[in-house]
Amino acid sequence: MKEQLLQKFNEIFGAGGDIRVYFAPGRVNLIGEHTDYNGGHVFPCALTIGTYAAVRKNTDKTLRFYSMNFEHLGVITSFVEGLTKKKEDDWANYPKGVIWALQQKGYIIEQGMDVVYFGNIPNASGLSSSASLEVLTGYILKELFHFELYMIELALISQYAENKFIGVNCGIMDQFAVAMGKKDHAIFLDTSNLACEYAPIKLDNAKIIIACSNKKRGLGDSRYNERRSECEEALKELQTVIAVKALGDLSEEEFEAHKSAIGDPVRIKRAKHAVYENRRTIQAVKALKAGNIAEFGQLMNASHISLRDDYEVTGIELDTLAETAWQQKGVMGSRMTGAGFGGCTVSIVENEYTREFIKAVGKTYEEKIGYKADFYVVDIGNGPGRL
Ligand code: GLA
Repeated sequence: MKEQLLQKFNEIFGAGGDIRVYFAPGRVNLIGEHTDYNGGHVFPCALTIGTYAAVRKNTDKTLRFYSMNFEHLGVITSFVEGLTKKKEDDWANYPKGVIWALQQKGYIIEQGMDVVYFGNIPNASGLSSSASLEVLTGYILKELFHFELYMIELALISQYAENKFIGVNCGIMDQFAVAMGKKDHAIFLDTSNLACEYAPIKLDNAKIIIACSNKKRGLGDSRYNERRSECEEALKELQTVIAVKALGDLSEEEFEAHKSAIGDPVRIKRAKHAVYENRRTIQAVKALKAGNIAEFGQLMNASHISLRDDYEVTGIELDTLAETAWQQKGVMGSRMTGAGFGGCTVSIVENEYTREFIKAVGKTYEEKIGYKADFYVVDIGNGPGRL
């Protein structure tokens, strides 16, 4: 990969000088969906697939971005100062956003840079190709300009870029998982205070399989922001009867006792998901620590059902993938992962059944949906680094 990237860099920007190559992962969330903006828990892990970049500082305060994934867009150019989101800059708004966010936080960027990116995360798959690109860019700047930044700060700056520059009101999960990834571990994160704990994922007899629905979505999708507003509204209503800071503060019992304060049945369902999903996530990590993968898998299935029926972010594509997975031999758990509305499912499948799983789920999906799903057996990898 490094060689291909350097070759492309030389071709686009010319050889010579101090050219460096960096990598940042994508992520998959095992459980804890749509809880991160509700002060709840999440349990994602970084993947060994992600985004690569070859970069060299320049002396003319110009930012030149090129992506091997969007070659038809050519080199996208901006000036270091006065960065604004521009439709025609397309994917390059993500790296621009991170540079802007760093500047907003007081970091001074005195030189420009030329960058060639390449990502092997399927685009718009819900595996955080955008968070990967953001954190990678932040990491590159930290390295090139010697910024004293902890990885958690880098995650927060990347989230700030996504919220304020891109305009998607996402939570912290994706950027955190990308920045803080650890090989063979998932990250148990309490989004109310960013306390986190690494939990080893030792699946001796099973694999993590991601099924990509190939239904494209972008977080720019207004339904993400809509769900977030529905939860905020429900929280306000609950706060008239119980003192809580976030939906994640509530137990199931407290929620049931006070839910009538929420004046709309749809908002009750949304809030119910946020509360129950948070409790499921805590329970799932407990089960995993006790070596009870079967219970972990059951909780993954319950998570999907709640996202389907109460949060309503699945759709026929993700439901077909998860529901078909549940019927297969050797499947311990399967659920949609990420924001939903398309994207991927994540399944835990016993080693000896992985091939059958891919064949059977793939066949049913194509018959029902009319196009193919893609399957990836994935490994859990580290956070960003220089190659
Ligand atoms: C997207 C967002 C995250 C999180 C998930 C849903 O991936 O970027 O912050 O809200 O959706 O769990």
